Amino acid sequence: MTRSIWKSTAPKTNFPALNGNLETEIAIIGGGITGITAAYLLARSGKKIVLLEAGTISGGTTGDSTGNLYAMVDKRLHHIQSKWDKETAARVARSRAQAVNLVEELVNEHKIDCSFKRVPWYLFSETDKKDKTIEKEIDAAANYNLPVEELHELPIPVKVSTAIKVEGQAQFNPAAFVRGLAEKIDSTNCQIFENSEVHHIEKEEELVLSTSSGTVTAKKVILATHTPKGIYGLQTALYPYREYAIAAKLRSGNFPDGIYWDTEADFHTSLRTYSKGNDNYVLVLGGHHKVGQEDDYSRFFGKLEQNARRYFDVDEIEYKWSAQHYKPADGLPYIGESSDENIYLATGFSTDGLTYGVLSAMILNDQLNDRKNEWSDLYKASRFTPIKSTKNFIRENLNVAKQYLKDIPGKADAESFKEIAAGQGKVVEVDDEKWAVYKDESGQLHCQSAVCTHMDCIVDWNDAEKSWDCPCHGSRFEATGQVIEGPAFSPLDKRNMNPKE
Ligand code: FES
Repeated sequence: MTRSIWKSTAPKTNFPALNGNLETEIAIIGGGITGITAAYLLARSGKKIVLLEAGTISGGTTGDSTGNLYAMVDKRLHHIQSKWDKETAARVARSRAQAVNLVEELVNEHKIDCSFKRVPWYLFSETDKKDKTIEKEIDAAANYNLPVEELHELPIPVKVSTAIKVEGQAQFNPAAFVRGLAEKIDSTNCQIFENSEVHHIEKEEELVLSTSSGTVTAKKVILATHTPKGIYGLQTALYPYREYAIAAKLRSGNFPDGIYWDTEADFHTSLRTYSKGNDNYVLVLGGHHKVGQEDDYSRFFGKLEQNARRYFDVDEIEYKWSAQHYKPADGLPYIGESSDENIYLATGFSTDGLTYGVLSAMILNDQLNDRKNEWSDLYKASRFTPIKSTKNFIRENLNVAKQYLKDIPGKADAESFKEIAAGQGKVVEVDDEKWAVYKDESGQLHCQSAVCTHMDCIVDWNDAEKSWDCPCHGSRFEATGQVIEGPAFSPLDKRNMNPKE
């Protein structure tokens, strides 16, 4: 079973589950960094908020992230500049820097114990050849007045040919920050509920959110769920990917803090350091594949461990985990009111979600308070950018179309339940229907339809996370069918075991 260092080490929250029916001005679905920061800002402004979290606060992608905050972007600023223009890339960097500043202010104001510190960000190349990515990023960063410097060695034992350093970025324990901030939200204006999964949103005169133990009726709703719940045209412009991480406890060596990214295209790696008590860790993150489209999910952990041991004196790999992200078609997130009136989105953060999550909260706070926000137009959720999106749009949606072909008869992972090992799942064809069948460690079978409840793609078994992952829009389900994340509202449909078996 995987577990992230952040979720394992941050203090837990203990908010109640919803029990009954409530009315409010704004309902927020999702208790990650976007939802909690938005709830904090909106409650501070006097708005009445109800926040519903399906599991526990920061128990989703926020707690599985890197804990890095930076003005730069995963895709590189020079890439945004070439897709859009210089001014857009500069605004991206400025807006993201503002979000990092807000995190620092909140940490200081509320004395949130989350190991926040300002650190440099590095992008490095190990190749001896001239690396154009580094050159272009140095130019771009200098254009946006970021404190940039060219280097030829790093303060960690990684041999590099050339590198770029940008001072003044930041790191923290994201789960500790979000849980700490949740405790500081003005409770007269905001009620938080954990273990309160929303199954359905009904548009009546107002919006009615249903959970199994009550409803919330709201004038406006923020879907702070990483990707919007339900069916939206925008999902054709959001592409779900997974990435892997390990926290390696070091036997020796104590390295300076920093965010270290390499320019390797095949297996891009990001490194960072972290100390817990007397223990020093190096976190290595990397690997990359589309959700539900991998034969051997666990192999990524081996590659990350190999990378860690190549550079550092590793004692043991104490934590392993993976996380999901959604790439936007035109390179920028979608933040603001959706095509559904009064429903607000914040999605398409790629792997830059902590900073974009806070930025989304700032933008939504202004929008819902009828104030102008200088970044609203840049990230507008309803924008249509065919020229900037076409290449990704065609490639990714052809990929989605291909996934539907997995439903043709005869295509299954196994012909009988007997082929499934304990602790594993396989898609089995039963009476012309695809079943997602999981055999637990005690040998008991759990059978459900393999048809994703979002839009009918066939799910795939993820052997690293023991989950059923949908290759179309990234919904994920537990081995026994309950929703973990993604746009699906409902669990996989249960099936009774085939008596013939
Ligand atoms: Fe859309 Fe599964 S997530 S079909």
